[in-house]
Amino acid sequence: MIRALHRWPGLLAAALVTMLALSGAALSVFPAAERLAAPQAEAGLTVATLAPRIQAVYPGVEQIRRSPSGRITAYWFDQGTPGAAVIDPATGQGVASADPNQTLRWLTNLHRSLFLGDGGRIAMAAGAAAMLVLSLSGVLLVARRAGGWRHWFARLRGPLAGRLHVEIARIAVVGLVLSSTTALWMTASTFDLLPDGVAVPAMPAEVSGETGFALDQMVVLEETSVAELRELSFPYPGDATDTFTLKTDRGTGYLDQGTGALLAWADLTGWERVSETVYMLHTGQGAATLGLVLGLMALGVPAMGVTGVLVWLAGRRGRARIRGNQPAGRAETILLVGSEGGSTWGFAATLHAALTQAGQSVHVAPMSSFIPHRYAAARRVIMLAATYGDGAAPASAKGFLDRLVAADRAPDAPLAVLGFGDRSFPAYCAFAKAVASAAQAKGWPELLPLDTIDRQSPQDFARWGRALGEAMGIELELSHQPVLPITETLTLVSRRDYGAEVQAPTAILRFALPRATLWQRLTGLDFARFTAGDLIGVLPEGSAVPRLYSLASSRRDGFIEIVVKKHPGGLCSGQLTALEPGDTVTAFLRRNPGFRPGRSRAPLILIGAGTGIGPLAGFVRGNARRRPVHLFFGMRHPDSDFFYGEEMPAWRDERRLTRLVTAVSRGARPHYVQDALRGDAAEVSRLIRDGARVMVCGGRNMAAGVAEALAEILAPSGLSPAVLKAEGRYVEDVY
Ligand SMILES: Cc1cc2nc3c(=O)[nH]c(=O)nc-3n(C[C@H](O)[C@H](O)[C@H](O)COP(=O)(O)O)c2cc1C
Repeated sequence: MIRALHRWPGLLAAALVTMLALSGAALSVFPAAERLAAPQAEAGLTVATLAPRIQAVYPGVEQIRRSPSGRITAYWFDQGTPGAAVIDPATGQGVASADPNQTLRWLTNLHRSLFLGDGGRIAMAAGAAAMLVLSLSGVLLVARRAGGWRHWFARLRGPLAGRLHVEIARIAVVGLVLSSTTALWMTASTFDLLPDGVAVPAMPAEVSGETGFALDQMVVLEETSVAELRELSFPYPGDATDTFTLKTDRGTGYLDQGTGALLAWADLTGWERVSETVYMLHTGQGAATLGLVLGLMALGVPAMGVTGVLVWLAGRRGRARIRGNQPAGRAETILLVGSEGGSTWGFAATLHAALTQAGQSVHVAPMSSFIPHRYAAARRVIMLAATYGDGAAPASAKGFLDRLVAADRAPDAPLAVLGFGDRSFPAYCAFAKAVASAAQAKGWPELLPLDTIDRQSPQDFARWGRALGEAMGIELELSHQPVLPITETLTLVSRRDYGAEVQAPTAILRFALPRATLWQRLTGLDFARFTAGDLIGVLPEGSAVPRLYSLASSRRDGFIEIVVKKHPGGLCSGQLTALEPGDTVTAFLRRNPGFRPGRSRAPLILIGAGTGIGPLAGFVRGNARRRPVHLFFGMRHPDSDFFYGEEMPAWRDERRLTRLVTAVSRGARPHYVQDALRGDAAEVSRLIRDGARVMVCGGRNMAAGVAEALAEILAPSGLSPAVLKAEGRYVEDVY
């Protein structure tokens, strides 16, 4: 919701807001320039001294005005001809033309009304309102992204465009909120929507009828310093009933031209003071430095516009196009999607198109936007839910389960849950299962029993589609064409071979980093940004199904590295392990945010066996901050498959690796990585009690053995792998 509130006014008003910001930034320079250019009155100069000085030079003077910048202007009549000049208060002489600056006038008109009169004023006010909505929703988004208000200035991560957007926002937002609020106030005032609250003194009933009292003798003018003067108007020549009008920062009064006496006075009202402060805060008139600061902040707006659009476009990429999406309140079928990598959106698009063609009205949305009472016309709800990590929710379903649990009651429209997963993961479709059981616990009626799709199989999907059609009483043929992510061609630069002696030929393959386009660099898409533990999907020749491998390097290392074991009869591993430098493969990047060491300084316990060392070695290599890292590594024989054995001593010398414990499974006394953990139980337990994070990578059996060993080791301290997992301190990348 907040994101939508930030995005749509942002896109719609981008041009208007940019125009406002740029013209505002240009205008902000003028008060400061005027202050520098105008001769300023010396301290303590009173109006009683200044006025006669000017009158001596311009006998026909009828008004003296002082602007908030300190510039003094005199207006006079000379033999019936009006004249005006900027005055040097030291001499009373005119020193510059008082004609308004044409550029300033043009910019002010553009800024206020786009030269379109009241219509333009309303449009610009709408722009200011959009800027206010953007600023406030942006504040909430920044706080949410940073993890709370206290982390407002926390270091940012992620693609460059997103970081720039937030970096500028968190500095400029104060000025933008101030400028847009004051703009709205001033527009309301222009259209008389606010009371003017101006106090004018009553016209004096009686005047002396005399003229010619010396200006420098007038007590009130002696008591008024030039610094607080706004305006002194002279009486009409020859009219003995007229008076001097004096306006100062304190109020307005009338002076008798024959006696110099103060005939009437009215103080500025509180309301006038508020209005003037708002005006000053918006224009910088009287606060030139503040004006410049606000102008600089306004310059952030176009930059945020460009980076905001980039972030938005990057977020849309990979998401299938859904045409003719119906509003949630009117749709008969509500289709909610839980996806991380984007492929489930493709299935949702296929289902949406097929249902729409069958005459249904369908609303598609992410599961995270689940709001049960909005589905007023719904006759069924369908959820397509992928699973990540160890049965965790994918990005677009974050918070769904909490919302379902917190809801008063489940919707009446029956539910069908379809899980998307991969049977090679131990927690197969676990998130979809969790959704189905939470729905059941809530008493949500069932449209179809829980079903699952393995590895994005179009056949599984078509089968489920027929069951759905039957339940709905329509014919439904779902023919899904999976859309592959954008791939790159990677060129092998080197390979290191291991494992031949232990019948497990394995290669560490290093590929050149593909050159990133400016767009990729700004948005962090594809291989423009990746870290060890992310995945690459390799498309082997002769198959459209990608195989995923964990990355053993980060972008910063300057290469892409994976560890591949040749499986007997394995299509992809066979092709990869046969590559020679110069050969190429087709691959894409898939992020794996659930398997990252995090930025904490707490010790890391890395546990892996065989090719599972890949991402762990990448973490060690990237440990420039010398975080304590304890690596437990299981291999068959140190002479044949001690991957990264050559680098380990250097990593230890550089303190990227604190300790290496190896376990060798071939030999007289087979020793596995879980045995190594048990052998080091006291130290492992101490590290975990002190907050260490555990990361496990490798085969499923090894991971199960490790969890069992850790359960034993931790039992005396009341901890367990399950507790650590719940705390996010125990993560696995298992295959
Ligand atoms: C890092 C990673 C972790 C995964 N974890 C699981 C899992 O624990 N259980 C499962 O059934 N599938 C798992 N999968 C498979 C995805 O759920 C499956 O590929 C799904 O179709 C992806 O949908 P999406 O592209 O819409 O996110 C995982 C995939 C990746 C890349």
